[in-house]
Amino acid sequence: MLEIEAVHAGYGALPVLEAIGFHVEEDEVVGLVGPNGAGKTTLVRALAGLLRPSAGAIRFAGHDVTAEPGHRRAGEGMAFVLDNRALFSELTVRQNLALAERMGRRSGRLKCFSDDAELFDLLPVVRERIDTPVQLLSGGQQQMVAIARALLLRPRLLVMDEPSAGLAPLIVKHILELLHRLKGRGIGILVVEQNVRLIAEVADRGYVMSLGRLVHEVPRGAWRSLLEDERLVHAYLGG
Ligand SMILES: Nc1ncnc2c1ncn2[C@@H]1O[C@H](COP(=O)(O)OP(=O)(O)OP(=O)(O)O)[C@@H](O)[C@H]1O
Ligand SMILES: [Mg+2]
Repeated sequence: MLEIEAVHAGYGALPVLEAIGFHVEEDEVVGLVGPNGAGKTTLVRALAGLLRPSAGAIRFAGHDVTAEPGHRRAGEGMAFVLDNRALFSELTVRQNLALAERMGRRSGRLKCFSDDAELFDLLPVVRERIDTPVQLLSGGQQQMVAIARALLLRPRLLVMDEPSAGLAPLIVKHILELLHRLKGRGIGILVVEQNVRLIAEVADRGYVMSLGRLVHEVPRGAWRSLLEDERLVHAYLGG
């Protein structure tokens, strides 16, 4: 569904990503872990069309989107929870979600949840602060709104940059629950996380990134052995 081939990208003269290649298929959760500054957010920005790769290709659903602007990718079913959340800050939670709901409906794709209440039960702030302008919410509350918005877009591929950042442990549990419930609904999910123990609970397989390269692949079902590999954890994950 998503194929990245030999992608290089950076900021001006600063190269960050070097020859990144991996794939995400529908109905799987892929984890991407790595230390601060590894290039995880840079990769997410390249996938979202916010940063143009200097070389390589990004293919989604069989066609090359490398040169496509971000909004076209969104229209085709790529949804992102970015580290800066990128919500409309002057609009209320309800208004932000209504825009996403409308785009999702127009796409003609299936809903992620047959009943939106299932989604809102897991992200309580959405109900509690529904008429609050987003700029008056805390970072963690905005994160919950960003997750709800991404799901209302009815994505085929969901990419999340550190969804647990700034959230209370109970809400982090809810997010894991959401990801578990999304399995088997035809959606491909890429989750970027610092917290490898968290990702190990939900991802089917994954990759370790360091200094702009993918340095290790975690095969299906092998998160436990990654966590037990002291050399790897010490070298790349700071644990
Ligand atoms: N806007 C920018 N301009 C210039 N350099 C940047 C910019 N954003 C990131 N970088 C550099 O790119 C490298 C990778 O940063 P990136 O934000 O992708 O890392 P990350 O893996 O997401 O880290 P973190 O875990 O802290 O979020 C770092 O060396 C960083 O200094
Ligand atoms: Mg980051």
